[in-house]
Amino acid sequence: MVEEPGPVQAPRGTKDVLWPESWRWEQVVARFASLAERFGFGLVLNPMFEDVRVFRRGIGDDSDVVGKEMYELTDRGGRQLALRPEGTASVVRAFVQHRPTTPWRAWYVTPAFRYERAAAGRYRQHHQVGVEALGTDDPDLDVEVVSLAVAVVADLGLEQVELAVNSMGCSECRPAYVVLLLAHLRARSDDLCDEHRVRYQVNPLRVLDCKTAACRDGTADAPRLVDHLDAACAAHFARVLEGLGSLGIPYRLEPRLVRGFDYYTRTTFELAATALEAAQNAVGGGGRYNGLVEQLGGPPTPGIGFGMGIERLLLACDAEGVLPAEPPAPDVFVVDLTGGAEARDLVAELRRAGLVAERAYDGRSMKAQLKLADRSGAPIAVLIGAQELRAGQVTLRQMGDPHGGQAQVARAQVVPELVCRSHHRQAAHGVPPVTRSEERP
Ligand code: HAM
Repeated sequence: MVEEPGPVQAPRGTKDVLWPESWRWEQVVARFASLAERFGFGLVLNPMFEDVRVFRRGIGDDSDVVGKEMYELTDRGGRQLALRPEGTASVVRAFVQHRPTTPWRAWYVTPAFRYERAAAGRYRQHHQVGVEALGTDDPDLDVEVVSLAVAVVADLGLEQVELAVNSMGCSECRPAYVVLLLAHLRARSDDLCDEHRVRYQVNPLRVLDCKTAACRDGTADAPRLVDHLDAACAAHFARVLEGLGSLGIPYRLEPRLVRGFDYYTRTTFELAATALEAAQNAVGGGGRYNGLVEQLGGPPTPGIGFGMGIERLLLACDAEGVLPAEPPAPDVFVVDLTGGAEARDLVAELRRAGLVAERAYDGRSMKAQLKLADRSGAPIAVLIGAQELRAGQVTLRQMGDPHGGQAQVARAQVVPELVCRSHHRQAAHGVPPVTRSEERP
């Protein structure tokens, strides 16, 4: 390959997230964590890469995610590895390896790698927040998991999000349905997209998930899996729908929602942000996978979970005009006209006392420092000039308010004074002040 001159760019389909956009990421993760923990989930951390068999066995070789999109590599020791294309199979691998007591509820935040055609909202490295709950097939847990996903989008302020649900049945009832579906597809195979015209037999359910107009038309009147569930799956699904109704969660029954992984059984669901382009409007999706633990070598253990794309959630927030980047301003900006040593020491004291303190560097002029103080959004600037230094004082200047005025405060009193002002400001904004053990009076 010929080396192109110039600086190296981030790989195609990836992006750097810089401040203040990254503040919104922090918000999504923090809000997700808080809600997931309220629902009884604890954080799990897994490696970014796994033995490739985790995904081959877990997700299925003929899925797009494994067959076409997985980043595979051989390490220097000859091990066949893959960068995780999603979270579920790794979390289940960890469950099988460590056998925590059930029910086990884990939440995660992770990058996921898929060699997809990069587009707006479709990345080769995207990021998911998600949960997995293992150890019970109780349909009330399905309702809880779906309601957590719905609570997450509501908490971000999103209103234009639709929930679609379906049941995939189980290994008992699905084969008979697949026979019916195959017969339908065989009769319509000429109408299907190029790929499925020849490959519909490999995994006929996948055709239902195909987004091409040809396959959508060709399957519009296909038999529906929900009409062919066995009694146990039908009862399970009825209880899930009843629970969603009881919790006041609106949903649409979507009989073609089969999702792109082989592990799903029974409940599947997806959240679509209608303010986004249809091709990339899924902000989250998930479902049950009652056979996955066994498939990865563990004892029969049912499970359910979902993943949500952080980038997609933020795109949906942009489209609805919610969650604008509002990184908090510092509490105070220190302007030092005596060489910088005073600012160095004072910001350290202020930070020890729990305040967010900023300063300027490189011995800038007063004008330049005040400009930075203004731009920082700090409500107060501490000015330290030669005269103040000699008198053992500082000047506190109210920023952003031409009538705010300024006051002289003894240097020894400036930290408690600013802590006190910060508490008053937070109380006025309804934020409880953080009391830190090291905070001095
Ligand atoms: P998934 O639907 O493949 O499910 O991904 C979950 C979410 O990740 C999607 O709804 C979407 O928001 C986001 N996402 C997926 N691919 C991309 C991409 N290329 N670029 C940007 N965002 C993307 C799973 O991964 C399952 N593990 C979910 C699950 C958990 N099922 C059970 N438990």
